[in-house]
Amino acid sequence: MSFVPKDFVAKAVEELRRAFPAGQAVVACSGGVDSTVCAVLAQQAFGARAHPVFLDTGFMREGEAEAVRLALETVGIALEIVPVAPRFFQALADVSDPEEKRRRFRHTFYAVLAEVLAEKEAQALVQGTIAADVRETQAAVKTHHNVLDLGPQVWPTELLVLEPVRPLLKPEVREVARHLGLPESFVRRRPFPGPGLSIRVVGGVTPQRVELLRRATRIVEEETADLPVFQAFPVLLAERATGVRDEARHCGEVLVLRIVRSSDALSAEALPLPWERLQKLVERLLAELPSLSRVLYDLTPKPPATIEWE
Ligand code: XMP
Repeated sequence: MSFVPKDFVAKAVEELRRAFPAGQAVVACSGGVDSTVCAVLAQQAFGARAHPVFLDTGFMREGEAEAVRLALETVGIALEIVPVAPRFFQALADVSDPEEKRRRFRHTFYAVLAEVLAEKEAQALVQGTIAADVRETQAAVKTHHNVLDLGPQVWPTELLVLEPVRPLLKPEVREVARHLGLPESFVRRRPFPGPGLSIRVVGGVTPQRVELLRRATRIVEEETADLPVFQAFPVLLAERATGVRDEARHCGEVLVLRIVRSSDALSAEALPLPWERLQKLVERLLAELPSLSRVLYDLTPKPPATIEWE
C-alpha cells in the first residue's frame, strides 16, 4: 500500500492529542526536516500548548537558526532560538573520541533541554526521531543523539516523550513536509547530524576549527546546491599536511569532501562528480581558506564506511 501523507498527518495529529490531551509540550527543533515536520504536527495537535525551540549549540551551519525560524514562520509557527554555544564548547573541550563527543554533546543537549522544559513548565517533549536513527542505534552502529537513552537523571519526572515521525523513513518525511506546506527548499533539505559540525571536526573541537569547517561547509553547499545528492559536506581532519604558500613551506589543514547519493542513509555511494566540478570546488576552498594545504575526495561507500566520519 502506498504512503498517503494526508492520512499520516491526520492519524499523527489525532494520536498526539490522545497521548497528551492537556499541558505544555516543548518541540526540540534541530533544523532538519524531521523535527520541523514534528513542530507542525505538534502545532496542529496542541495549538498554543506547543513550544518549538532551537538550541543554538555553536556547531550549526552558517545562518542555520535563522533558516529554520523562517521556514517555520512560513507555516505560521514562531520558533524560539536558545543561544547556548559556550556550554557546548566547554563540554567538548579536549575530547577527541567520537563516541565520547556524542555522549557529551547528548548530555549537554538534554541538560539544556531539561532547563527549557522546566522554564516552560512542560510535561511533554516532541522530537523528530525517524526509523533509521532507531535502527542504527539499536544495531550499535553509532548512538544517534536524538534517541533518548539518558534515563531520568536530567529529566523532570513524568516527562512524556512523543516521536510522531518515528515510523517513517526519510523520503516519507519529505512527502509529509511537502503536504504540510513547508518551503520546498526545506522539504529537500539535506540531512545534518544533531551533533552538527562537532562530529565533522576530527579530533579536538575548538571554536577556531569549527569556524574553519563552517566556512568550508558553506562553500561546499553552494558549489553542490544543484546536484542530486543526499549529503555533501567537508570534514576537517586532525592531521596536518605539508604544502607551499607564498613560496614558503606551510603545514596546513586537511579537508575531506564527502558527497554521497543515498535514499535512506542506510547505504550510500560517493557521487562520480565530473573532474572539472571537483577541481573548481577544490580551487575555491583553497583560495578562500588559506589555512588549508590539501583537499581530498572520499570514494568509500556505506558500508563499509558510514556517511559521517565519526
Ligand atoms: P552515518 O554516518 O551513520 O549517518 O552513515 C547516517 C545518517 O545519519 C546522520 N547522522 C546523525 N544524525 N544524530 C543525528 O541526528 C547523529 O548523531 C548522527 N550521526 C549521523 C548522518 O548525517 C546521515 O544522514
